[in-house]
Amino acid sequence: MTVSVRALNKEDYADWRPLWDGYTAFYECKLEESVTASTWERALNSDSALLCRVAEIDGKVVGFAMCVLHEGTFSSAPICYLEDLFVDETVRGSGAGKALIEALQAEGKREGWSMLYWVTRQNNPARKLYDKFVTADDFVRYRVSL
Ligand SMILES: CC(C)(COP(=O)(O)OP(=O)(O)OC[C@H]1O[C@@H](n2cnc3c(N)ncnc32)[C@H](O)[C@@H]1OP(=O)(O)O)[C@@H](O)C(=O)NCCC(=O)NCCS
Repeated sequence: MTVSVRALNKEDYADWRPLWDGYTAFYECKLEESVTASTWERALNSDSALLCRVAEIDGKVVGFAMCVLHEGTFSSAPICYLEDLFVDETVRGSGAGKALIEALQAEGKREGWSMLYWVTRQNNPARKLYDKFVTADDFVRYRVSL
């Protein structure tokens, strides 16, 4: 199976939406419809800091990487936070997840981003994939809900 990665476009909604629902279910999270609508709109809007790249197999969108580009204090170049990564359960293990991260790495090099990073749960089996890219650091996350 050949995997290709490209930017999200507005014709992708019918494919993206079930994947997004699968992703939020994976995190046992029930999002307001207005939030999903806003996420979709911002992912398509080139003026937004949100971006989305999709993986295709045989012309079908099977996965996505949703990212936020942000500024930082230790570099003047943009930093890319890979916030959401998801691949359709039926095609997992076909290289789509790896292809999405590799495509972001390549895009970041082209565009002059200083870093690509992501966080995951300690026990996420996907770390088998992540460990192929880099060794995890020892930072921990503190979150204050507001
Ligand atoms: C994580 C995820 C996107 C990986 O997508 P994928 O397309 O299956 O990954 P790939 O096929 O590119 O995997 C490449 C390698 O990593 C391994 N791998 C990837 N995900 C794995 C997982 N969940 N468990 C075990 N191994 C995994 C594959 O076995 C493969 O190893 P190999 O090259 O030695 O055979 C997918 O498993 C997923 O959507 N998981 C649920 C949501 C999730 O955890 N998202 C990430 C949150 S941080």
